[in-house]
Amino acid sequence: MSEGFQAVRNTQKRGEPYPVKRFGPENAGKVRRFHASFPGYQATPLVNLEGLARELGLGGVCVKDESRRFGLNAFKVLGGSYAMGSYIARRLGMRIEELSYEAMTGEEVRRRLGEVTFVTATDGNHGRGVAWTANRLGQKAVVYMPKGSAPERLRNIQALGAEASITDLNYDDAVRLARENAARYGWVLVQDTAWEGYKDIPGWIMEGYTTMALEAAEQMQAGGFRPTHIFLQAGVGSMAGAVAGFFADLYGEGERPVITVVEPDQADCLFRTAQAGDGRLHFVSGRMDTIMAGLACGEPCTLSWEVLRDHADHFVSCPDYVAAQGMRILSSPLPGDERVISGESGAATLGFVAEVMRNEKLAWLRRQLCLDKDSRVLCISTEGATDRENYQKIVWDGLYPGI
Ligand SMILES: Cc1ncc(COP(=O)(O)O)c(C=O)c1O
Repeated sequence: MSEGFQAVRNTQKRGEPYPVKRFGPENAGKVRRFHASFPGYQATPLVNLEGLARELGLGGVCVKDESRRFGLNAFKVLGGSYAMGSYIARRLGMRIEELSYEAMTGEEVRRRLGEVTFVTATDGNHGRGVAWTANRLGQKAVVYMPKGSAPERLRNIQALGAEASITDLNYDDAVRLARENAARYGWVLVQDTAWEGYKDIPGWIMEGYTTMALEAAEQMQAGGFRPTHIFLQAGVGSMAGAVAGFFADLYGEGERPVITVVEPDQADCLFRTAQAGDGRLHFVSGRMDTIMAGLACGEPCTLSWEVLRDHADHFVSCPDYVAAQGMRILSSPLPGDERVISGESGAATLGFVAEVMRNEKLAWLRRQLCLDKDSRVLCISTEGATDRENYQKIVWDGLYPGI
């Protein structure tokens, strides 16, 4: 191991793999039809960075740019909105296919539903998606944020009419607060992580993310780009699980690209769980001090872990400078490449790939991941500059230089 990087090859797969049909292209088509009924829906761009691929010694690098998602600067709204739609459909005895945006936000649904308060805990992006959806439904949202959350992210949620506050809790304790208050006040908990006895909404959230995977798959196919490697950043792992599940179903488990899950070293609960290999989840507690705020989660989503356990190949834990480097690389493209504005959590994977390819001390990791001139890599920039003050400090002032 070197320079704060750790990696483990996944040896957890045993017996029948976790069924991924639910996250595959067919179901994703249904999910996408739901999202496509929202005003302003557009597939986010997939950017092919040929100059960067050449520079790094790779066969190709594509980056899906989620800063362009519904004007909300992150992919997360896909999950919250689909889960809230599915919840409403179930309560009203409807099928999600019958619940377009127009029907969902119309008078009749509001009348039949009555007043609902949706509650969640968030580093920012998920809460913004929940607040945005509740706002369009004409319903209330309560949002708890962990200690140290960026004021800009709080203001963006409040601007959508939600009752949002920054607590003095870490992310996982803020989730517990949301859960307790949901039980106490009869609110609907829209949390992007599952635990024993709480699986429906997190499962729908994961399904919601498959719109993004389906778009990427279609865009890559249209561009003749068949990925050999997909890098997925993880907080609780719901996004990584959904996307890994999608590609395992699309290509088949034996044919799918190599899937690598990337976490900050301060919040590497999936890495620790894979490393321990004892069939139990391993948590990280305490402050989880990382610039990758969206990934600062210490307790894996149980549902997503089951998918990743059976359909991911590597788990890596890496230092913060990797994310900062990814932000700078994406913001200053090589000639012919497009610029991507990517925030801390968004740029983690591209920054990681660049470091592994450029840093000779990480040659062992390059070999472990089988990355070479024939590799075609997909990364998802899951957010834009959601904390502009920090974005400028990192990209303009060069904070968090590499080592
Ligand atoms: C920008 C961004 N990327 C990635 C993630 C990770 O998603 P998950 O918590 O499902 O692993 C988050 C989570 O909030 C996020 O905000």
